[in-house]
Amino acid sequence: MAGSRLWLSLLLAAAFAGPATALWPWPQYIQTSDWHYTISPHSFQFKYHVRSAAQSGCSVLDEAFQRYRDLLFGSESWQRAALTGEQQTLEKQSLVILVVTPGCEQLPSLESVENYTLTINNEQCFLLSETVWGALRGLETFSQLVWRSPEGTFFINKTEIEDFPRFPHRGLLLDTSRHYLPLPTILDTLDAMAYNKFNVFHWHLVDDPSFPYESFAFPELTRKGSYNPATHIYTAQDVKEVIEYARLRGIRVLAEFDTPGHTLSWGQGVSGLLTPCYSGSQPSGTFGPVNPILNSTYEFMNTFFLEVSSVFPDFYLHLGGDEVDFACWKSNPDVQAFMKKKGFGSPEQKALVIGGEACMWGEYVDSTNLVPRLWPRAGAVAERLWSNKVVTDPDFAFKRLAHFRCELLRRGVQAQPLSVGYCEQEFEQI
Ligand SMILES: *[C@@H]1O[C@H](CO)[C@@H](O)[C@H](O)[C@H]1NC(C)=O
Ligand SMILES: *[C@@H]1O[C@H](CO)[C@@H](O)[C@H](O)[C@H]1NC(C)=O
Ligand SMILES: *[C@@H]1O[C@H](CO)[C@@H](O)[C@H](O)[C@H]1NC(C)=O
Repeated sequence: MAGSRLWLSLLLAAAFAGPATALWPWPQYIQTSDWHYTISPHSFQFKYHVRSAAQSGCSVLDEAFQRYRDLLFGSESWQRAALTGEQQTLEKQSLVILVVTPGCEQLPSLESVENYTLTINNEQCFLLSETVWGALRGLETFSQLVWRSPEGTFFINKTEIEDFPRFPHRGLLLDTSRHYLPLPTILDTLDAMAYNKFNVFHWHLVDDPSFPYESFAFPELTRKGSYNPATHIYTAQDVKEVIEYARLRGIRVLAEFDTPGHTLSWGQGVSGLLTPCYSGSQPSGTFGPVNPILNSTYEFMNTFFLEVSSVFPDFYLHLGGDEVDFACWKSNPDVQAFMKKKGFGSPEQKALVIGGEACMWGEYVDSTNLVPRLWPRAGAVAERLWSNKVVTDPDFAFKRLAHFRCELLRRGVQAQPLSVGYCEQEFEQI
């Protein structure tokens, strides 16, 4: 371990020489050199071999190839420029991907393996992964390694990467209750997530202000609880589309239906669900959390969550439960004694951490400002969750993130600037 750590930090010091090193997030092990190869957009191909019982293609990779071809060579200007580039360097004709385990049609899960190795040398341009999810992560890395000379020729340096995530759960939360986010905004966010190697879309669907999830068991929830049942809802078709779009990018969709608090919008469509609050001996006319003393509450929850668990295929469902008064618990000696007895608190708990999330709460955010608020800053969370824990040099991160922000712009993500300066590619945006 000490050896690899030394190797890593030496690379950190030496690596930021040229255009091909601005990877985000930084991989676990990387070795690059000045030696580089040309890539001709005219003839470059992605190829794969998947050990699959049914030899019926692989939608995850077929669609990924289309996306990355567009990302890499999408602009039209290369057609003229590529011909004037250096002719003496070796050309790479294809990236060959080998996926060891069968299966392209399954969903990503907490247990999904995302390891990959990427080898670009005189002999090969090769991506090896046990799973299609690892292949997706490797393709993203490959796309960040390709660079363009001022003459417009595409290059990739001799590179050896061995990569895997530090944590299996790398999430981004969007809040679609405080402000409704249109479907295309959510889909665009999934694309930017994939560029950052995030793998969980934590969908905070409903909350006090609105209930945009269209329930088939309780249609009144949306009819009365959404901002506008004609325009500000997510239909079953919308939800399906989000789940499939995410799957094709190796992203899980973790739905959250926050209870028993944060449920004011539920009360519009289900009478008797919320607890009536009292002022003295009289009901005050306001309502609190879900009413825990009525059988009807449990019957409702049973039916509702049965529906939700069939609509969202992920093994996990988020039940909220937030904004409990922790200060009160902390002040209570009995609670403290209980925590001590159970061993809650600082080192053995660390090993239980499966990851983390960037949470984009929606009080002051809708589709007008979501993207520049989120990117590239959520990328910092993405890197902490993917990269090795020794990758902590802020100067090194700043340079790479500034470069990555420009790459996001080039890809159509309106990420905000980190500081003063400019992007080489900015003219293409206007
Ligand atoms: C890639 O090659 C170019 C051209 O030789 C060089 O300037 C750059 O430093 C190289 N990048 C890395 C990471 O080795
Ligand atoms: C993925 O990489 C990690 C870290 O090296 C390793 O512990 C794990 O066994 C690897 N998994 C597979 C399937 O290669
Ligand atoms: C609530 O359910 C329990 C258990 O099924 C039952 O014993 C009780 O009578 C029910 N209460 C009402 C008011 O229906």
